[in-house]
Amino acid sequence: MTKVAIWCRHAEDNLIAVGKNIPWQIKSDSEFFIRVVEGCNVVMGRLTYEALPNRTLPNCKIYILTSDYTYKVSDKTNHFVVDDVRDFKEFPADLYIAGGAKVYEAFLTSGAKLLPDIVVDCVYDGEVLSNLKGDKIDITPCMPILDKKYIKVTENQVDVVTRRMLIKRGDFVDQSVMKKILTLMQN
Ligand SMILES: NC(=O)c1ccc[n+]([C@@H]2O[C@H](COP(=O)([O-])OP(=O)(O)OC[C@H]3O[C@@H](n4cnc5c(N)ncnc54)[C@H](OP(=O)(O)O)[C@@H]3O)[C@@H](O)[C@H]2O)c1
Repeated sequence: MTKVAIWCRHAEDNLIAVGKNIPWQIKSDSEFFIRVVEGCNVVMGRLTYEALPNRTLPNCKIYILTSDYTYKVSDKTNHFVVDDVRDFKEFPADLYIAGGAKVYEAFLTSGAKLLPDIVVDCVYDGEVLSNLKGDKIDITPCMPILDKKYIKVTENQVDVVTRRMLIKRGDFVDQSVMKKILTLMQN
């Protein structure tokens, strides 16, 4: 089964968020994210889940990582609490990894069974919104792994976001998932 990590980071410093906010508003990018994950299984950290409008994504099953096993989800049928990232080692279906920072890092650094097969690396090269409150959250620790273990398959640019699809070096990657992402990148 295929694991796909997807993010949008700032070109200069790999920033993905300031506190509870993504520090840019690019409609085409948020729509691209929704189209890639729509109808799929998605895993994310609790804070990313809480930052989603209405704490949901269209037609998705959402797996929320949190140490709080009593955590109340917004949709008991389709959203699930998970307290150990290792539970995804033998996940029986395709899985989309949607952050935040520690979640990406956990999947990228915890061995072959969690390592994403595909990374959709969106890189925003514009101004970052100022006046946002909160800590700067970046995914710099993921970058050396991306360089070492992945190879770029394709790249394009929409608005000020460069979208790159990378696959794990030297491994079989499901063609149908690649094809789906490729098609969405081109539209
Ligand atoms: N630009 C992008 O592509 C992008 C992508 C994703 C998110 N974001 C933004 O990033 C912000 C949130 O990111 P974040 O990094 O601060 O937080 P986050 O990863 O979404 O959530 C952190 C929380 O998730 C839980 N968690 C994380 N790893 C875990 C693990 N291995 N096991 C168990 N629980 C785990 C913990 O919850 P408990 O405290 O409950 O234990 C932790 O406090 C939001 O603003 C979001 O919109 C941006």
